[in-house]
Amino acid sequence: MRIDIITVLPELIEPFTQESILGRAQKKGLAEIHVHNLRDYTTDKHRRVDDYPFGGAAGMLIQCQPLDACISALKAERNYDEIIFTAPDGEKFDQPMANELSLKENIMIICGHYKGIDYRIREHLITREVSIGDYVLTGGELAAAVMADSIVRVIPGVIGDVESALSDSFQDNLLEPPVYTRPAEYHPVSNPNETWPVPEILLSGHEAKIKEWEYEQALARTKALRPDLLEE
Ligand code: ADE
Repeated sequence: MRIDIITVLPELIEPFTQESILGRAQKKGLAEIHVHNLRDYTTDKHRRVDDYPFGGAAGMLIQCQPLDACISALKAERNYDEIIFTAPDGEKFDQPMANELSLKENIMIICGHYKGIDYRIREHLITREVSIGDYVLTGGELAAAVMADSIVRVIPGVIGDVESALSDSFQDNLLEPPVYTRPAEYHPVSNPNETWPVPEILLSGHEAKIKEWEYEQALARTKALRPDLLEE
């Protein structure tokens, strides 16, 4: 799949898309992420992309012209399944949305900035408005990075162990069970006489019983920490 991200701060988001899982996914040919500088599309000789809002409200807005030019140029190259605008008043981003978007061929993500974008772009060109949570960021770049990360990591083959993305917290509306690694008995620095053991069942080698224990633990953690997930 291909993700095009449009921003006034490409230097903020580009390095993120080249590292770790996103970088590896692209090297493996499983995903393509392209970051576009909105200023490359303005007709303003000073490369300005923002202006004061009509009506006297505070702050600045991104103008129609550079956004329309950029979106049109990209749409002339290929069909987009979604043109997403990052906004705190959008639909809440979650795991099912990440899974759904990972199945698309081409998506565009427009990062909001300043006080937002001219509303006509939202009315005429945007197909989906997405928020990553009920808080206000200074721009949509972090939201676009969060979305790209969680979308790409569920593409089959991106994470080594196919099971590992599918068994994440939220994939089945359950939080993950507790996980442990070696040593089986740990003695904390604050009191070396104390022992923190790994639950015995995990050392038993009994696969079916371990799966059952993990499910019970996942259910108990979900009930305690996120009971809303069980109501869905
Ligand atoms: N832009 C500013 N705040 C945002 C949020 N919470 N989600 C997505 N985009 C945003």
